[in-house]
Amino acid sequence: MRLMSEEVLKIRGGIPLEGSVRAAGAKNAITKLLVASLLSEKKCVFFNVPNIQDLEITVDLCEEIGSEISWDREEGTLEIQTKELKTSYIPQRFSGANRIPILMIGALLGRTDEAIIVPTAGGCKIGPRPINFHMEALEQLGAHIEYREMRREGAYFAQAQDGLKGTVITLPFPSVGATENTILAATHAKGTTLIKNAAIEPEIIDLILFLQKLGVVIFVDVDRTIRIEEAKEFHEVQHTVITDRIEAASLGMAAIASQGRVFVEGAQHPHMITFLNKLRKLGGGFDVRSNGIEFFHQGPLKGGLHIETDVHPGFLTDWQQSFVVLMTQAEGISIIHETIYENRFGYAKTLQEMGADIELFTHCLGGKPCRFAAQNFEHSIIVKGPTPLVGKEIAIPDLRAGFAYVLAALIAEEESILTGLSYLDRGYENLTEKLRALGAQVERVAPKALVH
Ligand code: EPU
Repeated sequence: MRLMSEEVLKIRGGIPLEGSVRAAGAKNAITKLLVASLLSEKKCVFFNVPNIQDLEITVDLCEEIGSEISWDREEGTLEIQTKELKTSYIPQRFSGANRIPILMIGALLGRTDEAIIVPTAGGCKIGPRPINFHMEALEQLGAHIEYREMRREGAYFAQAQDGLKGTVITLPFPSVGATENTILAATHAKGTTLIKNAAIEPEIIDLILFLQKLGVVIFVDVDRTIRIEEAKEFHEVQHTVITDRIEAASLGMAAIASQGRVFVEGAQHPHMITFLNKLRKLGGGFDVRSNGIEFFHQGPLKGGLHIETDVHPGFLTDWQQSFVVLMTQAEGISIIHETIYENRFGYAKTLQEMGADIELFTHCLGGKPCRFAAQNFEHSIIVKGPTPLVGKEIAIPDLRAGFAYVLAALIAEEESILTGLSYLDRGYENLTEKLRALGAQVERVAPKALVH
């Protein structure tokens, strides 16, 4: 018996999930939309707002600089208005919190002549996650950005004393964050800005839709070029956040892996095309309905899949972790080549300890252009299945690995005990309650509880 100092998730596997569950609004959309609202002094109202920790951090961040916010967590609505900026100094307590503070630079450059001071970026520990693309693009628009050592750690100082000026920017890689930061800054840049090789993820399109309502003239061309004209006036906005395609897929995979049947209300078919193709090849069942997607087990899963993660519309890197758990239950050999992050298979070791047959490789197991070729990163894997999994004690290292472990625990023999739940809380709304409602034996044990 041990005394636990933090909450743990106890999961007893082997129960098919059955029922209906609603996927929440997208974490990677609402957090950016809130920052985008800072571009103007107008009121913005959001619907389908998820009750997650990453949004709490973003709300705190916006309030810090002067936003008035009212968030009804039950209703999933949030109103924000930033009539004036109180400060453009983002305190160091936000350092490493998530990826959002860095977007403050793009959002605020056009709203103040003062320096915008932003501590170092955070987010899940899945590699170094540099921000050089952001900085280079913002500098091309006329910002002056410097990294300075501060008392505890460094911060970025960004300023555009002579204003921003539209130009043609070609991103070295279609980075989601760099595209967002550049779009935000470009709305206040004189003339027109072209972002070539831009990311076009559904969350970015949601941001574009929001900006269009706000008053920005913004185009997406077929060749990954986003064109933004300087905004002359802003309007009040009402906006419904897109459903989280990562949560929707995660819940769908839980239905199939547990040999059950779950209707995921709100799951958006157009945002999940590549995922559903791979699921069908694996033998997972799904049925697209008017208001969501039903996922179901329809017999033994078949391996033999080859997946290469990619920018949208490719296979999203945030889907691969749980998909690997499905592959451990499929008959045959499957391959995943991760081309977005150099270090996103760290979770494989724990799955191996649970009984999965996974081998890691430093070379590219696939033909897609990959920035990690001929380097020493373990960014490809081979999974052989099916293998039974056995429950264990697991420390969650990041958000998406966290859900993969939940999934592994849901199908494992014996009990699993997961720690590091704050990672899950960052991006999955009421996960314990949702899984319990589907029949899973999941219990979140309060701090200081005795665990056998
Ligand atoms: N990169 C650079 N320099 C930069 C920016 C990115 O080298 O200046 C590299 C990154 O290191 C990475 C790749 O480019 O290897 C892609 O990074 P990107 O900028 O596209 O990712 P991000 O904006 O930091 C967002 C999501 C991630 C998601 C990726 C890819 C948010 C808050 N995060 O991250 O989501 O995996 O796009 O789609 O939107 C998650 O939700 O758990 C998550 C990690």
